[in-house]
Amino acid sequence: RAAGDPLITEIQDWNRYLGDGVDAAPYGLPSEFESEVVRRNVPWLTADAVASINFTPLHELDGIITPNGLCFERHHGGVAQIRPQDHRLMINGLVDTPLVFTMEDLKRFPRENHVYFLECAANGGMEWRGSQLNGCQFTHGMVHNVMYTGVKLKTLLEEAGVKTNGKWVLPEGADAAHMTRSIPMEKALDDCLVAWKMNGEALRAEQGYPLRLVVPGWEGNMWVKWLRRLEVGDQPWHHREETSKYTDLLETGKARRFTWVMDPKSVITSPSPQMPVSHGKGPMVISGLAWSGNGRITRVDVSLDGGRNWKTARIDGPSLSKSLHRFYLDIDWDGSEMLIQSRAMDEHGFYQPTKNELRAARGENSIYHNNGIQTWYVQKNGAVENVEVS
Ligand code: MTE
Ligand code: CO
Repeated sequence: RAAGDPLITEIQDWNRYLGDGVDAAPYGLPSEFESEVVRRNVPWLTADAVASINFTPLHELDGIITPNGLCFERHHGGVAQIRPQDHRLMINGLVDTPLVFTMEDLKRFPRENHVYFLECAANGGMEWRGSQLNGCQFTHGMVHNVMYTGVKLKTLLEEAGVKTNGKWVLPEGADAAHMTRSIPMEKALDDCLVAWKMNGEALRAEQGYPLRLVVPGWEGNMWVKWLRRLEVGDQPWHHREETSKYTDLLETGKARRFTWVMDPKSVITSPSPQMPVSHGKGPMVISGLAWSGNGRITRVDVSLDGGRNWKTARIDGPSLSKSLHRFYLDIDWDGSEMLIQSRAMDEHGFYQPTKNELRAARGENSIYHNNGIQTWYVQKNGAVENVEVS
C-alpha cells in the first residue's frame, strides 16, 4: 500500500465514536457492508414468485455450512406460516396404530444431529444444452448444507408399527401445494430425519418451519417441508411430483422415473463470473464445493486448461457423508487466460462426467440431474465467464 495511506495515518469515525451497545440487534443480522450477499431469483424462469426458486450465493460463502438466511428457497405454493402449537404430524396407512404427534411430543424422542446437503434435482437444469447463466449462484445455487436436529423417521415409524406389507412412505406438506412424494421403506428406515432445527436454531419459515423431512443424498423435492403427514402404503403413489415433474425424458421418448440419488458434483465458486479476479498475477486461491449423494467426497481435481491437465485439490474442513466438501487449489497465476474446471470423485469411485458425456448418455431433453463438469473462462483482466469446452 502507498505510504501516507489516510486509512493508516488518520483517525476514522469508528475509531473516534462509541458504537452501538449490546441488544441493538437482539437477533443479529450481517454487517451492513454485506448487503450484496443475498439469495437471488431469475425472474424469467418462473411465472410468479409463489411457485418459484431463488439461489444460494455460493460465490460469497466459504467453509461447508450454509447460513440459514442464505439457504436457497424452492416452494410450489409460497411459504406457509404455521404456529408450532397448531402443527400436527400424523402417521396413517399400513400401521398397527395410527398416531398424531404435536411438536412437544416429537421433542421427547431421542434426537440426532447430522450435516447434509440438499440439492434440488433441477439444479443446473438451464445448462443442459449449453452455458446460459453467468454465475455459480445461478448455475449451481440450488444447494444448501445444514446441520439438522431431529428424530429418526425410523423411530416414529416403529412407534406406529409398520405392517409387513408396508413398503412405501408418503410424506405430505401442510402448505398450499400439499407436496407429496413416494419414499421406499428401506430409505425411510435408513437415515431419514424429521427435523425442527437447522444450524442450531429453529427451521426458517422458508425451509418448512416448524417441521421438515430430511432425505440425505436424495433429490431436494423429496425433503417435504411443513411436514404434516406420513402415510405407509404397499406401492408408490405416482403423484404429480414423480410423474409429470422430476422424471427424466430420454432420447428414446421414454421417461426415467425415480432418480433419487444426487450424483457426485462440484463447482468452483471463486473465481467465478460473480467473483472475478481483482488482484492481478501472483498468488491466487481457487476454491469450490463438492458433494455426492452416495457418501463422502474422496478427491477433487482441478484443471486450469479446459480439462487437458488435472491437479488434485486440497479438501479442507469436515469430510462428512452426504455433505458439502470445501476444496482449495493454491496457484501462482501468471496472468494468462484459463479455462478452470473441477471434477469430484466419491468414496464409491463415482466421478463427474463432462457435459458431452452426460448428453451422450441421457440426450438433450433433460432438465434434472445435471452433474456435468462446469467450465469458467478466466480472462487476462480477471473477468470470468460461463463457457463450455467441447
Ligand atoms: N415441501 C413442500 N411442502 N412444498 C414445496 O414446495 N419444495 C421441494 C422440497 N419440499 C417443497 C417441499 C423442493 S422441489 C425442494 S428442491 C426443496 O423442498 C427445497 O428446500 P429449501 O426451500 O429448503 O431449499
Ligand atoms: Co426441487
